[in-house]
Amino acid sequence: MPNFFVTGGAGFIGSAFVRLLLDELPACDVVNFDALTYAGNPDNLSDLEGEARHRFVRGDICDPRAVLDALGEATDYLFHFAAESHVDRSIESAREFIRTNVLGTQVLLDAARARRVRRFVHVSTDEVMGSLGEDDATFFTEDSPFAPNSPYAASKAAAEHLVRAAHHTFGLDCVVTRCGNNYGPRQFPEKLVPLAISNATADDPVPVYGDGRNVRDWIYVEDHCRAILAAAERGRAGEVYNVGARNERRNLEVVEAILDALGKPRSLARFVKDRPGHDRRYAIDPAKVERELGWRPRETWESGLRKTIRWYADHADWVARARSGDYREFYARQYGAS
Ligand code: NAD
Ligand code: DAU
Repeated sequence: MPNFFVTGGAGFIGSAFVRLLLDELPACDVVNFDALTYAGNPDNLSDLEGEARHRFVRGDICDPRAVLDALGEATDYLFHFAAESHVDRSIESAREFIRTNVLGTQVLLDAARARRVRRFVHVSTDEVMGSLGEDDATFFTEDSPFAPNSPYAASKAAAEHLVRAAHHTFGLDCVVTRCGNNYGPRQFPEKLVPLAISNATADDPVPVYGDGRNVRDWIYVEDHCRAILAAAERGRAGEVYNVGARNERRNLEVVEAILDALGKPRSLARFVKDRPGHDRRYAIDPAKVERELGWRPRETWESGLRKTIRWYADHADWVARARSGDYREFYARQYGAS
């Protein structure tokens, strides 16, 4: 029976991944280690109450004692999702990004070595590779050079370097995945898709940065999670796997698709001042993950977006709770003066 240790499993992707593990593996043991920051949400795990294969531990990945205590001696796979994940917040202050994403990753690598974890799976991002030209036909491959442009991306790049070093110097079995923009249920509404859905649902304007022509490569969250599991099971030690669904969209197109699906006027899209240093285009070449791991996305953009919009419509309470408290202050700081 495999033992899994998941960091950040109360967040958007981590909670989807925990659910995938429990769905796919009748016999397994999952320790879910999460500090429950503003982005970590116990509501994301409420359907797992009473699930004997899942144990939630509240803890900070920067605390070596807490990590070692929770990790135990028999972990097969450590999946590292925990991070500060929002670019705009990293522009406001990089401090927590350096602490969690860099220091926290090193704490986990040290603990994984001490506890003889069989494989360390590091969840990275395409943003470590910077920005592509708007209209060119280039794509991020696993050999693309590092060129992080935001404090968030730089902290994730630093984390990847530490993972690489742990593999090279200490022989820790590590696999890295780099994915593009995820969308789906339970994403904190600071990110474009849930922000657009929740604002439009409330007939509030949807902020579109700059000219709205920036391109992101969108993937449904469960498809990303399946790729991470495939990388854990079949990936080669020391390798990086780029994950993408060949689904490039301009931001304005994303917002208009959401407005159309909700039956709201496109005039709700509101151009606001651009994000400083805004990366123009992300586009992933997923040939390696497809070829080596046999992974393919299951959702199309249309089917994934339909499921996502339906989930937010069915979970108005979740949205209302996520949009209270700290979120309101962040929203006012981020968009108030636009
Ligand atoms: P999220 O912000 O929704 O969740 C992050 C989780 O980490 C939260 O539950 C939070 O409580 C936890 N956390 C933060 N600091 C912690 C700490 N010090 N100790 C323990 N737990 C802590 O993020 P997400 O969108 O689910 O992203 C998960 C991972 O996937 C991140 O590493 C991110 O860089 C990566 N990623 C995200 C995307 C995307 O589109 N969202 C794409 C590619 C890669
Ligand atoms: O590419 C992977 C990355 O995708 C992950 O590593 C990050 O954790 C995740 O947050 C995401 O980063 P982005 O900055 O691309 O996501 P975000 O949803 O913040 O923005 C998507 C695009 O939409 C981006 O070009 C900025 C734009 N945007 C965003 C917001 C919040 C707007 O136009 N208006 C907005 O209000």
